[in-house]
Amino acid sequence: MIDLVFATNNKHKLKELSRLTGNKFHLLSLKDLNCNDDIPETADTLEGNAALKARYIWEKFGKNCFADDTGLEVEALNGRPGVYSARYAGEEQNAELNVSKVLEEMIDRKNRSARFRTVFCLIIEGREYFFEGIVNGNLISERRGNEGFGYDPIFIPDGFDQTFAQMPLALKNKISHRGQATEKLLHFLKSL
Ligand code: IMP
Repeated sequence: MIDLVFATNNKHKLKELSRLTGNKFHLLSLKDLNCNDDIPETADTLEGNAALKARYIWEKFGKNCFADDTGLEVEALNGRPGVYSARYAGEEQNAELNVSKVLEEMIDRKNRSARFRTVFCLIIEGREYFFEGIVNGNLISERRGNEGFGYDPIFIPDGFDQTFAQMPLALKNKISHRGQATEKLLHFLKSL
């Protein structure tokens, strides 16, 4: 079984990924590497930020690894918050404030279409590979549910009537942006 570092400090993402990967490989976190660095996310695309994070770990620790960057892309807001999703309401990366800002900007908007997009950058022995996952849906006008994190309470995926924050994790993982990107990543790793 190969060791693979998931270059994130986000405990929600780690929980999602460890459920999705099961025992297919040995998933390590930044904590396991004793890495408390604030890895720069200064690119202006999801692909760019995922690559920055993964390259940082490969260059510093020489470990096979992957990193994700995720954005909520809202049609009526010309794709915002997008790559700026984490800091949409300010540098302190406060999910409550980020959600409030999106809700405010969406007041009276008829077009509620939005999507979550995740990009993974995987580095195996210095080679880079990218995987994308997208889930389409709609934004509602108030928060619903206590599961999940980030923008989950205001996003209803197409084909469902619950927000991601009202769903059990197993269901979110089955359909989500990160779930789909993970499927592709696992499929690729199996082919190595
Ligand atoms: P990052 O990928 O950690 O930079 O996340 C960007 C922003 O999107 C953060 O504010 C996260 O809370 C939010 N986010 C990332 N993944 C999800 C998700 O699965 N659901 C809801 N919000 C998310």
